[in-house]
Amino acid sequence: MFLHIRNYACYNDFRIKRIFTRKKKSAQAHAEHPLRWRYMETIWADMRAGVDPALMKEAGRIILDGGLVAFPTETVYGLGANALDPEAARRIYAAKGRPSDNPLIVHIARPDSLDRIVCSVPERARILAHAFWPGPLTMIMKKSPAVPSSVTGGLDTVAVRMPDHEIALKLIEEGGGFIAAPSANTSGRPSPTTAQHVRDDLDGKIDMIIDGGSVGIGVESTIIDLTEDVPMILRPGYINLEMLQSVIGDVAVDPGLHSEDPSFRPKAPGMKYRHYAPKAELTIVEGSEADVRAAIERLVSEAQSRGLKCGIIAAEEDAGAYRCGIVRSAGSRKKEITISQHLFGILREFDDLGVDVIYSESFDTPRIGAAIMNRLMKAAGHHVLSV
Ligand code: TXA
Ligand code: MG
Repeated sequence: MFLHIRNYACYNDFRIKRIFTRKKKSAQAHAEHPLRWRYMETIWADMRAGVDPALMKEAGRIILDGGLVAFPTETVYGLGANALDPEAARRIYAAKGRPSDNPLIVHIARPDSLDRIVCSVPERARILAHAFWPGPLTMIMKKSPAVPSSVTGGLDTVAVRMPDHEIALKLIEEGGGFIAAPSANTSGRPSPTTAQHVRDDLDGKIDMIIDGGSVGIGVESTIIDLTEDVPMILRPGYINLEMLQSVIGDVAVDPGLHSEDPSFRPKAPGMKYRHYAPKAELTIVEGSEADVRAAIERLVSEAQSRGLKCGIIAAEEDAGAYRCGIVRSAGSRKKEITISQHLFGILREFDDLGVDVIYSESFDTPRIGAAIMNRLMKAAGHHVLSV
């Protein structure tokens, strides 16, 4: 059940009472069952019109008390908890149903907070932070003892980023300066790009959802590992290889990212799971635009004749040309950010519509194409048809 707090003044007394009792109940529930979630009332905090300072204080208080708050960032929505509290991190794993060997990213609101959570700050980290923070870049460094091992999945390294979103930065400040946050989806589902996606997955399992509207980028941050001699991209994102190379020179890409060979495991534990996955079977069709359209139309009519419900993911430029199936335009190839913004939402929508099979065009666009195709390939279980 949700409490809509649009008209803050009217609800004030009522809200404070409810939050007080909820906090007690949620603390009791967590104390009794630290590794399982129990139904709790999730507060809906609407900040689409801007940061509400009083609500933000409460959100920060929830974090400091060991609770969970979902919040928008420029990439996807995150599920935040106090990164310095080992129990709070465990609650994140329980609410998401996430394997506890999959480490969390620690979010900070100012670059100098790094000193507290990493052993020593490499020069390359300072250069990258100066170039890309706040922004969609996560850096991996050796952790300091201040970071609990429940946050890093037992690793001696920690992933850190400073997000470029006013609500996220305010929440981090109010919540003590260090917020551990994975994407705010149930493990295995596509990452959430709206607060409604978070609600669909986590209603009743977390303390608060802050609605800040749709996110700007739509795929998760680039992850770069600075513990290697040559820094290595473990997850592609909006900050691409060329951008990183232009600032620090040599940068490698994790060979495990592109391989289906199990002996090449991706270094980021989370990249080994087949997630971002819709319930339907997804196939990527690649080739010339005309060939791809013809092949998808043929595949869809074959599938429909077997009684299957079919979804098509197409570029805006082609979407109108399809004559069958449920067609969704991801966005324009000429404005590739529109494709990354819509991709996860379309996968979720196809789940809601009960689609059985999905055929997607390929979106190997120049700037964010590597990130878009990485997510799409994972959603498709690397199932590609070349025509
Ligand atoms: O854009 C983002 O990065 C979003 C927003 C909320 O900030 N967060 C996000 O978190 O995508 P998550 O937990 O869904 O993905 C974090 C990835 C996982 O693949 C995890 O295995 C990897 O980062 N990771 C975290 N710490 C790591 C470490 N110390 N070494 C290697 N990989 C690490
Ligand atoms: Mg995730």
